Amino acid sequence: MNIKTSVITLAALAIATLGFTTAYASDPSPKELQRLVDDAYAKYKGLQEGENANYIPILTKTPSDLFGVVIVTRDGKMYTAGDVDYKFSIQSVSKPFTAALVMKQQGVDSLDDKIGVEPTGLPFNSKIALELYTEKRSVNPMVNAGAIAAVSLVKANSEAERWNLVLQNIEDFAGAKLTVLEDVYKSEYDTAYGNRGIANLLYNYGRLYSDPEEALRVYTRQCAIGVSAKDLGVMGATLANLGVNPLTKKTVMPAKDVPELLAIMATAGFYDESGEWMYTAGLPAKTGVGGGIVAVVPGRFAIAAFSPRLNEAGNSVRSLNAIRDIAGELGVGVFGANPAE
Ligand code: DON
Repeated sequence: MNIKTSVITLAALAIATLGFTTAYASDPSPKELQRLVDDAYAKYKGLQEGENANYIPILTKTPSDLFGVVIVTRDGKMYTAGDVDYKFSIQSVSKPFTAALVMKQQGVDSLDDKIGVEPTGLPFNSKIALELYTEKRSVNPMVNAGAIAAVSLVKANSEAERWNLVLQNIEDFAGAKLTVLEDVYKSEYDTAYGNRGIANLLYNYGRLYSDPEEALRVYTRQCAIGVSAKDLGVMGATLANLGVNPLTKKTVMPAKDVPELLAIMATAGFYDESGEWMYTAGLPAKTGVGGGIVAVVPGRFAIAAFSPRLNEAGNSVRSLNAIRDIAGELGVGVFGANPAE
């Protein structure tokens, strides 16, 4: 995407975000929201397409048939179906939330300057992106390079402080105490040769802002935080609620930063499938190789889902279908209604 296209995309998102309150004045009834999650769950629970992530060895052991679907509204009402309490590793769904922490600490311009906001059109773990985008290198905080850079940018005097800030921030978004799935952390850190390469390359180019191994450890721990589909729903609902957690009422990020964060999720949240996702679902969202996805209907609610089988781009097949159907049926795409499949 060139600069002009990016600017147009962001402007359209901003207009859509500002316009939504008048376009969709009333929320669907609780009965309707419950019906939508039940229907999406029933429709996709038999879908066998895709495979668990296997480059993190332990993720192959997650029962592949787990599936949960959740809607959480900006006032904290929750509609659920399936395995919505099962704790899985958050993986890349953590990325926008740590980007939010960097924005809060250092401002949105600094995130753009020091990481970048351009979609790569490349896989989440791309190394070639670092060589193609020679100015920004890490490119955007949704891909591994940008997310490792984001962790390294968090202002902290020690690794322990860096980790505590990262964890506390994600807990604030979830409105719950969270724990690291230590077996996932170990499995990923023991095999993190690709991400270590990325961290070292960034450091070499002056685009990593802490010791590379420290950034890698904190990033890998962040990805191993255990969350449920309900937790993801609350995290998304906090963004829908302009940075205020609907359960705890805590302001987790400034409302003024939410549009920028949603813009990055919209343009890069599905990696090299982000165009396809926005074309068919029309919502800012973030996926993770643990099987979680959260999508945000700005100002209104979040739709989250979890199921371990992934497509080629590393996005959960059942989750993306469930969320896209719900968004389509409700007609809540930020550019206007997208048809449900
Ligand atoms: O760094 C990694 O490869 C993983 N911890 C996270 C990747 C991920 O979740 C990509 N998402 N779909």
